[in-house]
Amino acid sequence: MQTLLRLLGDGAFHSGEDLGQVLGVSRSAVWKKLQQLQVETGIEIHKVRGRGYRLAKPISLLNMKWLNDNQGVAGWDIRVYETIDSTNAEAMRLVAQGVSLPLLVLAEQQTAGRGRRGRKWVSPFAQNLYYSLALRVEGGMRQLEGLSLLVGLAVVKMLREMGVEDAGLKWPNDILVGRQKLAGVLLELTGDPADVCHVVVGIGINVNMQSSDQVDQSWTSMALEAGVGMDRNQVVARLSVALAEYLEAHSEKGFGAFRDEWERNHLWQNKPVTLLSGPNAIEGTVLGVDAVGGLRLRVGEDVRVFSGGELSLRLREQS
Ligand code: ATP
Ligand code: BTN
Repeated sequence: MQTLLRLLGDGAFHSGEDLGQVLGVSRSAVWKKLQQLQVETGIEIHKVRGRGYRLAKPISLLNMKWLNDNQGVAGWDIRVYETIDSTNAEAMRLVAQGVSLPLLVLAEQQTAGRGRRGRKWVSPFAQNLYYSLALRVEGGMRQLEGLSLLVGLAVVKMLREMGVEDAGLKWPNDILVGRQKLAGVLLELTGDPADVCHVVVGIGINVNMQSSDQVDQSWTSMALEAGVGMDRNQVVARLSVALAEYLEAHSEKGFGAFRDEWERNHLWQNKPVTLLSGPNAIEGTVLGVDAVGGLRLRVGEDVRVFSGGELSLRLREQS
């Protein structure tokens, strides 16, 4: 499938005969493979009599060699999959096998992309970024405190560099433009957080997605915001550089050093919100975050701090 996609990836017409020659199969076998490709990836292919086949829309495929050559400071091992259930799940499996770390796992599509609390992350073929970085963490809880919030800052930095000026954060793990979700972060841990453990930093970013009938909340993408299609390899490279810088600074200074920066980028700073925790709803005003990434809320006369994976923040409309 990769060879066929890479041939068509230039956006030009290719005759069935030419494609058959490269693949070493007959013209009718090419047609069958193209049909299979459309089913597996959802990519639309146009067939024009006398000219051949062409992709209905250009795509940006991940390029392993380019990614390895353009890692900047990061220098991590990289694995690229065409289809995987979830890059986070695969990274966890590889960690369990004892592969060398850090390891970056990328995929063209996920069949079971996951968000927080078992929610589904919509992951169409070659449109967005499905990025999981597996790391070994030594030095106990301090190295994990505020980590998922810090990852959000790295994503926002990359987005601004690539022309998405208005991106901001929503506690704890969302990257939004206005009310629309552009990216999400999901950290998964194995081992003993108080001693040596492994963390998988999962990042999903809508890059070139233009439409979706599957995402059930308001969303946007880099291409929709910047008005141009993006090279997904560039997005990976710039994200890795930003992430490597933030991770290094975090391991030296802890999240406390990033509190102000995080609050400056928090779209809901000082806003009235409802915090949902299972069946409970707490109304308050966002004051910011504490030194370990907990949410600080003014609730009545009190200042209260909240943390944990089961919490969801909603904006309250002011009357
Ligand atoms: P919170 O619970 O913090 O309010 P949330 O509602 O965004 O945030 P998350 O668990 O963080 O929930 O994210 C998963 C949700 O994101 C899914 O339930 C779905 O509504 C939405 N979603 C799934 N895929 C995408 C995507 N590609 N782009 C934007 N949003 C998506
Ligand atoms: C969220 O907002 O709920 C987090 C979404 C995280 C999605 C990314 S895509 C890459 C990695 N693999 C997954 O299965 N999930 C994360």
